[in-house]
Amino acid sequence: MTKSWWKEAVVYQIYPRSFMDSNGDGIGDLQGIIQKLDYIKDLGANIIWLCPVYKSPNDDNGYDISDYQDILTEFGTMSDFDELLYAAHEKGMRIIMDLVVNHTSDEHPWFVESRKSKDNPYRDYYFWKEGKDESPPNNWGSCFSGSAWKKDEQTGMYYLHLFSSKQPDLNWDNPTVRSSVYDMMTWWLDKGVDGFRMDVISFISKTPNLPDGPIKSGKPYGDFGPYSINGPHVHEYLREMNQKVLSHYDIMTVGETPDVTVDEAKKYAGSKTGELNMVFQFEHMRLDSGEHGKWSNNRFKLSDLKRVMSKWQTGLKDCAWNSLFWNNHDQPRVVSRFGNDSTPLLWEKSAKMLATCLHMMQGTPYIYQGEELGMTNVSFDRLEDYRDIETLNAYDELVHTQGVDPETMMQYIHHISRDNARTPMQWDDNCNAGFSSVTPWIGINPNYIRINAEQERGDPQSIYHYYQKLIQIRKQYDIIVYGSYQLIYEDDPQIYAYTRTLENQKLLVICNFSEAPAECVFPQEFRTDNKIELIANYEIGSIENDFRLKPYEAKVYLLNSANKFNVSQ
Ligand code: GLC
Ligand code: CA
Repeated sequence: MTKSWWKEAVVYQIYPRSFMDSNGDGIGDLQGIIQKLDYIKDLGANIIWLCPVYKSPNDDNGYDISDYQDILTEFGTMSDFDELLYAAHEKGMRIIMDLVVNHTSDEHPWFVESRKSKDNPYRDYYFWKEGKDESPPNNWGSCFSGSAWKKDEQTGMYYLHLFSSKQPDLNWDNPTVRSSVYDMMTWWLDKGVDGFRMDVISFISKTPNLPDGPIKSGKPYGDFGPYSINGPHVHEYLREMNQKVLSHYDIMTVGETPDVTVDEAKKYAGSKTGELNMVFQFEHMRLDSGEHGKWSNNRFKLSDLKRVMSKWQTGLKDCAWNSLFWNNHDQPRVVSRFGNDSTPLLWEKSAKMLATCLHMMQGTPYIYQGEELGMTNVSFDRLEDYRDIETLNAYDELVHTQGVDPETMMQYIHHISRDNARTPMQWDDNCNAGFSSVTPWIGINPNYIRINAEQERGDPQSIYHYYQKLIQIRKQYDIIVYGSYQLIYEDDPQIYAYTRTLENQKLLVICNFSEAPAECVFPQEFRTDNKIELIANYEIGSIENDFRLKPYEAKVYLLNSANKFNVSQ
């Protein structure tokens, strides 16, 4: 397997709006990030993924971009950005940008032109269609509820928006669209950014004629997936992007690819296919879905989680590369979702266990801001306290047209809403959690008094220090980055255990995913004295061959440690 810096790296994701407010307007900003760079460096992460900071009317918090080459005023200026990039590089960290090119904002000059007339030169930058007798051109529903089409009064035609109506989809079949996007990417790369996280990049190629999608029973709209996800030209366009832009720089690229299959991922992120370095797959993020899709309060099943994670670990082996994540700005907090935040002890143990389980796998790990502190989901009582467009629209659609009762919907929101990830970063126990000197744009999780960076940085046993150690050992042992993965104890209902193998070295990872103690025996080859305990979320103890795992206990053993590993720099 070829070694690469981006395989050995650890990424820290920043949602700028909620990270650090430097100027007291209640909104995080670029100067705030600059103030906290040392915090990220101390943690050990060496790449920052910056969620969108571009000019935007903020219908979807910056994922609706009106100028790709300017900075959102609330976040600062281009010179603040340059300062951030410079400071990060000085500290040995890289910055990758969010690239949102499946759609623009409806306030982007391309769309402003496009909607003016049927023969405007920009008309074909987007998808415009005539309606069918007062109905939209096809039955597709948008990701943010309602139809994926909006009628525009100017010309009486409809435009396509797979997300909000302020996020019209770009027509990638138009070569001028593609070259405009490539020029913009080149501009950022020439400025010195270190790569891109590509927003819903698997959606950019639509099946011609945009056929109606299948409708699930009881649902008002058809599914655009079969005709817009992993579409007919997506790989061709990404190879073109790679040839024209990406391949000219030493950068890292990761595609956000909902509904990707292992076979598709091998194309997107294949080591020889010339597209991207890696993708985000979301199968493990769907394990708690229900009849209303993500809107549910189901608990995942460990057997499903093991199956899905193992499928990706072995499926991409030797031919592509995984990204490892439990969290991002669209997902609820993992300690609440797959762990247990009901008592301080279980919270701490389960957060560390989940971190162990993920960080010992093969792939590049991503840490979402606050995950390293064990930040939890929030339960606002009132809908008015939510800000996320997806959440608000879903409430409207499910409660007002599909008969879900409001209380149940609030439970779903508490479980799965994107705002769980977007409450402000908890820096300390001062007023507004040290995030801002004023009331922030979205409420703070009241548990900041107990869960905050200052407290955890001062406590050697904290979740923060545990993440720090996980990152450290990854830098120390090649087997953690490059070893191959094998699931063991597949049918155990409480334990998720696997091994990693690199030449004659072996790593054993054992995680108790339950609140109850779990009996565990060492696999035969680990019944030897020639092993060390690398990390554990309870006291590292004497090594016995059979043992009983405590609630949410996690342990990692290394075999043949005498054969010193090739320590990567
Ligand atoms: C991606 C982003 C999400 C955004 C959507 C539309 O899924 O992660 O936050 O709402 O794309 O851009
Ligand atoms: Ca601010």
